[in-house]
Amino acid sequence: MDKFVIQGGRPLSGTISVSGAKNATLALMPAAILAPGISFLRNTPALRDVTTMTSLLRTMGMGIDFRDNLLTLDSTVIDGYEAPYEHVKKMRASIYVLGPLIARYGRAKVSLPGGCAWGPRPVNLHIEGIRKLGAEIEMEGGYIIAKAGRLHGARIHFDVSSVGATGNVMMAASLAEGTTLIENAAMEPEITALAGFLIAMGARIDGVGTNRLEIQGADELHPADVITIPDRIEAGTFLIAGAITGGNVTLEHVVPEHLSAIIAKLEDAGCTIRSGAGSLSLTAPPAMRPVDVTAAIYPGFPTDMQAQWTSLMSIASGRAVVTDSIYFDRFKHVPELTRLGADIELKKNAAVIRGVRRLTGAKVMSTDLRASASLILAGLVASGTTEVLRVYHIDRGYEAIEKKLQSLGADIRREAGEEF
Ligand code: EPZ
Repeated sequence: MDKFVIQGGRPLSGTISVSGAKNATLALMPAAILAPGISFLRNTPALRDVTTMTSLLRTMGMGIDFRDNLLTLDSTVIDGYEAPYEHVKKMRASIYVLGPLIARYGRAKVSLPGGCAWGPRPVNLHIEGIRKLGAEIEMEGGYIIAKAGRLHGARIHFDVSSVGATGNVMMAASLAEGTTLIENAAMEPEITALAGFLIAMGARIDGVGTNRLEIQGADELHPADVITIPDRIEAGTFLIAGAITGGNVTLEHVVPEHLSAIIAKLEDAGCTIRSGAGSLSLTAPPAMRPVDVTAAIYPGFPTDMQAQWTSLMSIASGRAVVTDSIYFDRFKHVPELTRLGADIELKKNAAVIRGVRRLTGAKVMSTDLRASASLILAGLVASGTTEVLRVYHIDRGYEAIEKKLQSLGADIRREAGEEF
């Protein structure tokens, strides 16, 4: 298993280009099942999760080609309707095939995802929503078994705002007979991007960008050609890389309004941020002010950025509290940051951080995608050498992260790690 070896203490400076959004891509790819023919997803990032989704869809008969960030999806002949445990346990987003398969073929067999590094992540909202559209769903041997004739529109109210459930139900409803209303829908930009793809395929969706979506089902949809939005979490991670190292970085190919909560918090912490058409520039202050954050649904501060923020606050000049209101136990990075000298106390779903003057390099272990990012950020500022082990986690969601960091002046290299 590969590792990153980082010599900390170098302020980053320069410009990088942000890749396409992982969490949009993982919804757009299964959405292609809905429309027979060849669809194109431009600006698709080269990520492990995209490879995993590609191999899953290929087992269903989809023809897929990927080169130079252009993903070509041929859904003319889909002859498989199953997402096996092997795929789903590797990547929870595999469940996104449920809605499109049941809508177009009236059948689907999808493994329950099981837990992840930070605890259970139920899929009850996906199941209840698709049941309301007229599918019969049973659980058997750890699998969701779904059957349906033509789906019909329904009024669906989500008790909890869920990105995945909103995406799955919106995809299924786009081929249902009649109108579907989704209330308390997720408003994340990745859901807006999915709606855009469905509309390009001929779906009729009103309320895009709000938490109330109205979908007029179509009898059929046609393939489409879209450009995937930039990855706001990658962008936020690189802004923090500039901030934590006391540097000066510019990001290109971003949508600044997708990062408004992150920008606001970085300015509260003393950073100067300038946004241009599709670009963001950050200049770090001499010392970081402590700033509390509560991760919440969009447009709040993203839960996918709370680990990275915790790293930044570990060297701030005071006490800051990072709370996650989405996932109460998404704190596997805290014990590892403590190994680097951070002073963090966990209290339920909050990390109480007392900034220290400096972190010191050590060997640390990645446990999940965003925890890995937080450890790399801490290693960039820690004195001496930091080794971040099991970087296959980071390769799931960041395209060539070490190359982008090297281009900003970071001393980071990938090494084949010891098996253990
Ligand atoms: C998406 O996961 C993202 N993944 C996650 O990013 C992100 O952390 C999450 O949204 C929250 O923003 C993708 O888009 C592929 P949810 P998802 O359904 O859809 C509860 C990353 O690092 N819930 O919005 O699985 C759930 O337990 C990944 O890129 C139910 O109770 O998240 C959680 O508390 C990690 N029942 C809350 O809703 C359900 O049926 C939000 O989950 C579904 C969800």
